[in-house]
Amino acid sequence: MQFFTTAIAALSMSSVFAAPVAEPRQATNAITTVFNTVADVKLTVTDELSTVTKLVADLKSTVVGDVVQKQTVATVQRTLSNVETELHGVLGLVLGTVTNTVVPLVGAELDNVPVLLKDVKAIVEKVKVTVTGVVGNVSDDVLITLKPELKLVLSLVNTLVTPVVQLATGLVGEVTGGVVPEVTSLVGDVEGLAGGLLSPVTGGLLGKIL
Ligand SMILES: *[C@@H]1O[C@H](CO)[C@@H](O)[C@H](O)[C@H]1NC(C)=O
Repeated sequence: MQFFTTAIAALSMSSVFAAPVAEPRQATNAITTVFNTVADVKLTVTDELSTVTKLVADLKSTVVGDVVQKQTVATVQRTLSNVETELHGVLGLVLGTVTNTVVPLVGAELDNVPVLLKDVKAIVEKVKVTVTGVVGNVSDDVLITLKPELKLVLSLVNTLVTPVVQLATGLVGEVTGGVVPEVTSLVGDVEGLAGGLLSPVTGGLLGKIL
């Protein structure tokens, strides 16, 4: 009997040691890189798009077809092209992450998910405001010159939304409460914004520059 009790004790001791260590799972490096990169790109792209708006305002006081106008338009093109490069980078990064298994985050790390969505929402909003301003402020011939870049920026930002939402949803996992209502509401915002950019039915911006 004594032996039996000791054996049980030994058994339960060993199963204690064998039990998986309930450590919170850490965000993988890849996810951390996505969070940091999106935060950086939000700042860079916001700056670049503010530059576009400023340049377009400058264009109003230039003479049609003169050197200053041509140079300014070329700078707008280059700036939009930088925005494309930034967005392409983020898109590649996010796509690379969602094609691997997305492990749900736990604890305080979950707070990064609404931040990610807010950053992406800010990017989409800034693109929308900027492109609307460009379309409404430049002459027809300048618009024709800028169309390819404008279209690319719009479609990139739209393409980005789907994998970002997929990633955010995967990172939240089966959790309820906490950040979930905020994440759900931000997902709705971001998807609505992106849809509005492209939808011809709602007078989408892209329709105006096709
Ligand atoms: C022209 O650009 C300004 C910003 O510089 C913006 O506030 C305004 O809405 C734009 N106009 C149109 C018609 O889009």
